[in-house]
Amino acid sequence: MILLIFVFTITLSSCKKTNYEIPFILYDEEDLFMMSFRDSIFLHNSSDITFKMYDSTNSQIIQNEIINGVLLDSPKLIIVNPVDRLGAYTIIEKSKLTDTPIIFINREPLAEDLLSWDKVYYVGAKPEQSAIYQAELVMELFGSNPNNLNNYDLNGDGKIQCIILKGQEGHQDAEIRTEAVVNEMEENGYDLEILKIESADFRTSVAFDVMNELLPIYRDQIEVIFSNNDAMAIGAINALKEDGFFTDDNEDGKVDSNIDNWIPVVGIDGIAEAIQLIEDGYLYGTVINDSESMAKAVIELSSAIFNNEDPETISYPILYGKYIWIDYKKYSLPIFEE
Ligand code: GAL
Ligand code: CA
Repeated sequence: MILLIFVFTITLSSCKKTNYEIPFILYDEEDLFMMSFRDSIFLHNSSDITFKMYDSTNSQIIQNEIINGVLLDSPKLIIVNPVDRLGAYTIIEKSKLTDTPIIFINREPLAEDLLSWDKVYYVGAKPEQSAIYQAELVMELFGSNPNNLNNYDLNGDGKIQCIILKGQEGHQDAEIRTEAVVNEMEENGYDLEILKIESADFRTSVAFDVMNELLPIYRDQIEVIFSNNDAMAIGAINALKEDGFFTDDNEDGKVDSNIDNWIPVVGIDGIAEAIQLIEDGYLYGTVINDSESMAKAVIELSSAIFNNEDPETISYPILYGKYIWIDYKKYSLPIFEE
């Protein structure tokens, strides 16, 4: 009997080829942008490796438990989208113990944490660049002369009255996008009057609630809404619609910026829903957060690590042996371009 159990256990454990699957640990499967990132991974993976997705449900405690669990199977590497970027430190310390390389994505660990071990990488985009592109979209809209704004300066005071919807507090993209979009406008001579900066956690439903609180106060003053991401821009548009904006008077299913009580909202990410809203005239523009290229970079790097090849041989440059930076792209419809 004991022998049987012994044989059974051996058979079971030799069947357990889990280290061929690479754990891919997402911060929250309710995040629209991260879902398009995940889809891109499956869509573009033609390599010899497979990924297994885990959802941390926006809890660092749950994420740490997932990581403890997957490390028991000795995976060849893990991919982590940290819930809290400061949580990366603990994750790195744990992975050192099992000598498991980590590719962090989307939420950038502190440089000192990334530099603390040579088997840690980060694939992401630079938030300053997304803010600069977002500012450019808005400058294009208000005209090339900051001292003589066009009719989008509704009250004609030479200033652009705006609301900024900020992402999750402490997130590198929320902090830097918010600061840099304002700087970029001002450095180019555009005078911004910030009516309100409010965090809506990168979420559609929160942005909807935030806008419902702000509209009674600022309704007639708003000339543009900067949103740190598309999900919140969508929430803002939903609230604006309910409040009588975007009327589509001729009922052709599209909103016309000249006649339909239009208000410019700009997002970042380029998720499918946002591109559709741009096509339908609701959303003025967005900045594409290129999750497709990020996914391709993650796949190539994972495959190199998995096959014990030199990561520097992949087709994306790796800065300081750590960072793969993917460029943002501007997106709006040609009618808005100068
Ligand atoms: C940002 C993105 C947001 C959100 C966040 C999650 O890069 O713009 O929409 O997905 O990452 O960390
Ligand atoms: Ca104005």
